[in-house]
Amino acid sequence: MTSIVISGSGLYTPPFAVSNDELVKAFNSWVDLYNDENASAIDAGQLPARQYSSSEFIEKASGIRSRYLVSREGVLDPEIMQPLIPERADDKPSVMVEMAVAAAEQALQEAGREPGEIDLVIVAASNMPRPYPALSIELQHYLGARGAAFDMNVACSSATFAIKTAADMLSAATARLALVVNPEICSGHLNFRDRDSHFIFGDACTAVLLEREETCRNPQPWRLVDARLQTQYSNNIRNNFGFLNRCSPDTRYSPDKLFVQQGRKVFKEVLPLVSEQIAEQLIAAGWDTESLQRLWLHQANLTMNQFIARKVLGHEARSEEAPIILDRYANTSSAGSIIAFHLHNQDLPVGSRGVLCSFGAGYSIGSLLLERVEHLS
Ligand SMILES: CC(C)(COP(=O)(O)OP(=O)(O)OC[C@H]1O[C@@H](n2cnc3c(N)ncnc32)[C@H](O)[C@@H]1OP(=O)(O)O)[C@@H](O)C(=O)NCCC(=O)NCCS
Repeated sequence: MTSIVISGSGLYTPPFAVSNDELVKAFNSWVDLYNDENASAIDAGQLPARQYSSSEFIEKASGIRSRYLVSREGVLDPEIMQPLIPERADDKPSVMVEMAVAAAEQALQEAGREPGEIDLVIVAASNMPRPYPALSIELQHYLGARGAAFDMNVACSSATFAIKTAADMLSAATARLALVVNPEICSGHLNFRDRDSHFIFGDACTAVLLEREETCRNPQPWRLVDARLQTQYSNNIRNNFGFLNRCSPDTRYSPDKLFVQQGRKVFKEVLPLVSEQIAEQLIAAGWDTESLQRLWLHQANLTMNQFIARKVLGHEARSEEAPIILDRYANTSSAGSIIAFHLHNQDLPVGSRGVLCSFGAGYSIGSLLLERVEHLS
């Protein structure tokens, strides 16, 4: 069987960090404005008063302390409560493509490759700025890549599903060098006026390069030993934004056109699915848990990751066994597990084994078994 490797990875981190305290201060100022403006309806019992958010709750419930944003001023202004990202002219690179180019260049450098050698580009993310032309084709153009490009959306599992898709296309010799990029501007779909979720997301972009092991120039790439994908329909994470919104003017701007979730239900329903999928995959591959050095898990909630790591490893995970990046980055959707991989794989020697796993809306779960190999070109 053809062996496919990850020969490089890259990460773009936006320049603006926003702490929980800053976010909560803006949210609570907005609550005061809202409650003042609606005082008579609230007093008459026609509207519930809005409640304050708290940094203590956010860190305890999620593990998030801070996040990076592409744009922060509007987010911290109680009169605006959303990022301000001006539209660009069609003949200029879009914001998401700029992020993608930066992440892709790092991945190319690690893989020892030139942009012109790429012949497959997949942009996989939870949100795209437009239906067409595909963002991936714009990226292909600005990078100077060849071949074909297309976009994919499997929400938080976009990266793992795209890696499996690229690996299959490389195995079938449809392509020779594949770039998978995950530009996530999650702040653009986040309702900063929603107490239950205003703290959840951050922005980032990741990239990985995949190729056949025999063409690889990175002396110590990560072999993709197995990839398993699973989906199960659920409305517990949903966003009704779409091209038909304008055809229903009365509901066009209602809150369901942004991210909405039943966090508790997600927590309870997704955890067993993820743990079982990884356990079955390890058995099928003949990998025992003692041979695993690392779990690069989706980064949505600290307790969730600790639970999954405990289930998979059979003991309380040490921080180096299941690295956490959500404390600094928050949930960056499909980029999260790849950020964990990018920042925490170089220390592992040849022969190390790890699981990279995403989970989220759909529901969707993607898990990859990776083994570091020596490649003598
Ligand atoms: C979102 C999440 C952090 C919320 O944590 P939680 O412990 O489930 O919190 P709950 O929503 O049950 O709320 C608990 C209490 O905190 C309160 N609360 C909610 N938001 C708050 C805030 N910002 N500040 C202060 N209190 C808050 C609630 O009102 C509730 O109060 P009550 O017990 O008096 O009713 C957590 O459910 C989660 O991360 N789930 C998984 C989500 C996930 O993986 N999603 C994938 C997305 S891609």
